[in-house]
Amino acid sequence: MKLPTIFTLLAFPLSALSLTSTATLNTTSPITLTKVTPSYWRASFSSPPFNIQTNAWYTALYTLITDLTTDPAVKVVVFDSSVPDFYIAHFDLLSPVDNSLIDGFWPNITQLANLPVLSVAAVNGIAHGGGAEFAAAMDVRFASREKAVFGQLEVGLGSLPGGGGLSLLPRLVGRSIALEIVLGGQDFDADTAAAYGWVNRAIPDAEFDGFIDTFARRVSSFDKSAILEAKRIINKRAGYPTVDEQAEDWNAALGLLATPNVQARVAKMVELGLQKDTDYELNVAEKLLDVQGEGPWRA
Ligand SMILES: *[C@@H]1O[C@H](CO)[C@@H](O)[C@H](O)[C@H]1NC(C)=O
Ligand SMILES: *[C@@H]1O[C@H](CO)[C@@H](O)[C@H](O)[C@H]1NC(C)=O
Repeated sequence: MKLPTIFTLLAFPLSALSLTSTATLNTTSPITLTKVTPSYWRASFSSPPFNIQTNAWYTALYTLITDLTTDPAVKVVVFDSSVPDFYIAHFDLLSPVDNSLIDGFWPNITQLANLPVLSVAAVNGIAHGGGAEFAAAMDVRFASREKAVFGQLEVGLGSLPGGGGLSLLPRLVGRSIALEIVLGGQDFDADTAAAYGWVNRAIPDAEFDGFIDTFARRVSSFDKSAILEAKRIINKRAGYPTVDEQAEDWNAALGLLATPNVQARVAKMVELGLQKDTDYELNVAEKLLDVQGEGPWRA
């Protein structure tokens, strides 16, 4: 299926801005893989300062999914962040993500969901937008009580969580809470996310790494054939968003993102610090209120 591109729409207005970065660019791999044991792999998001979902991030993720598919030994993969404060801030709003990489996202995520490998999101920082959606797409999610923050802020931009959120959230938390999360566009702490069923549980940060490690070692000691059959049947019973459903979400999100009103808002937020300034990114859920309505932000 062919999805329209965001960046024929977004690239011009954003590239017209002066992008004086307060952050140091880091061109090392955005996902650092550690094989803790042959059956237990740890993939750490490692592109400071924000772990943005860039071309390089998607490419590294798909390479990793290929490796997880072909490696006979691996049974658990843990996704955490090695960057302070941020798990994944959001989708890249400054540079174009290739259409082919966007088209590949849900097929790759579905492939991972069906592998005989348990995927674990160990959320130890801010997971906004595409970061929260990535976590929601994993098989299980654990959150550091003090460090994890979840938010689908897209409606505050005038768009939608088009990277899986609209289809995954109702399955995880039910209709009403999904509406609260998506339409409220605010931050949720780990305990609230756990109470909602958005994550499996919240764990005190002092115990977080130990808990994840014990759980991952335990599952990775079990038979791969049992992991495969458990995932196959639970996926069937619980349902998993199809590629077509996800395309409907994505197209709706892009349709809104393409409107002049939304582009003006995103451009203004970039000017104010979006994807550049750490303080702005830490507080972006509140910053959304500065760019609603008629202005003065439009002046
Ligand atoms: C780039 O990121 C890697 C992985 O997180 C880190 O080890 C390295 O120090 C970073 N380099 C710079 C210049 O920030
Ligand atoms: C993952 O995405 C890439 C890039 O779009 C694509 O070439 C590849 O076929 C996808 N893999 C799967 C398993 O869908």
